[in-house]
Amino acid sequence: MDFLPSPQRYDSMEYRRCGKSGLKLPALSLGLWHNFGGIDHYENARNILKLAFDKGITHFDLANNYGPPAGSAEETFGRALKQDLLPYRDEMVVTTKAGYHMWQGPYGEWGSKKYLVSSLDQSLKRMGLDYVDVFYHHRPDPETPLEETMAALDLIVRQGKALYVGISNYNATETEKAVEMLRAMGTPCLVHQAKYSMFERWVEGGLLDVLEQNGAGCVAFSPLAQGLLSDKYLKGIPADSRAASGRGNGALESGRITEGKLKQVLQLNEIAQQRGQSLAQMALSWILKDPRITSVILGVSKPEQLTDSLKCLENKEFSTEELQKINQILD
Ligand SMILES: NC(=O)c1ccc[n+]([C@@H]2O[C@H](COP(=O)([O-])OP(=O)(O)OC[C@H]3O[C@@H](n4cnc5c(N)ncnc54)[C@H](OP(=O)(O)O)[C@@H]3O)[C@@H](O)[C@H]2O)c1
Repeated sequence: MDFLPSPQRYDSMEYRRCGKSGLKLPALSLGLWHNFGGIDHYENARNILKLAFDKGITHFDLANNYGPPAGSAEETFGRALKQDLLPYRDEMVVTTKAGYHMWQGPYGEWGSKKYLVSSLDQSLKRMGLDYVDVFYHHRPDPETPLEETMAALDLIVRQGKALYVGISNYNATETEKAVEMLRAMGTPCLVHQAKYSMFERWVEGGLLDVLEQNGAGCVAFSPLAQGLLSDKYLKGIPADSRAASGRGNGALESGRITEGKLKQVLQLNEIAQQRGQSLAQMALSWILKDPRITSVILGVSKPEQLTDSLKCLENKEFSTEELQKINQILD
């Protein structure tokens, strides 16, 4: 093992308390949904992971189905842990999730205790870990009683397989119910992971208030709308972009890059330039301006993107005029 992280790795990252818990997360985290699968280049993935840790990113976000193929991002992460990062396990927050389809038959998806417990066991094996720091229920299940799903999260913590639990993609009403049940069981809901970006503002309509009132954190995902909130698509679709990759599994597709969206991107890009930022940096700073956001999860395909995005921490203030202009563009 010859990876020696920088002794200065904690100097420039900001750490934010996750709700009212004891756990702090870096303002920027790294997600492994895409770019870390079996179809991706392992050495590139490994370099991104090392760079992230070297820059104070202590929080790594996974899920059972990340890849493709499903499960392979956890395998990649396990391999990189073994090669480089395992000596620093206690400096890292590793999260995984279950909720989406993983295996055949009635126990391979959604929210039963049967599925959640076995999925986490599989995830731990793939990563070569004894426990994760946070285990999430990935999406609400319309059929399984919420009591059962929350009891499974509570059980997993009591088994020592996760230190904390969270939920993802639950609306504000479902979140209130889930948080209440978990509190009654003595396993508080640490965090909600929600899609949030300049193009996707649903959390502002109640979820962030519910989380704040209940002392839970909010971790934002797809902060660049999968790359749309950058200047990369302004001159067409680059061959090495997610939109050109045909990866499936919810990845950005070229049909979603409409003229209307590009017009907004162009206008936002001008504001970013006036602020001395790239559009990607401004899109991240814009999310972090809200203190209720604990962390923003980055998804990067190259180490250079990570280096670029980290600079958003240098300018998180927005004038009222800038915010008004941004709102007008997004309306
Ligand atoms: N809970 C959930 O249901 C859920 C769902 C989705 C995601 N997530 C989590 O959130 C993480 C991030 O999601 P995401 O990958 O959609 O995030 P994102 O930040 O919106 O998109 C990432 C993509 O943006 C581009 N990019 C990143 N940095 C850039 C920069 N500085 N300049 C220009 N382009 C840049 C890259 O595109 P190219 O690949 O084209 O280079 C990259 O792959 C995931 O890995 C996962 O951990 C959770």
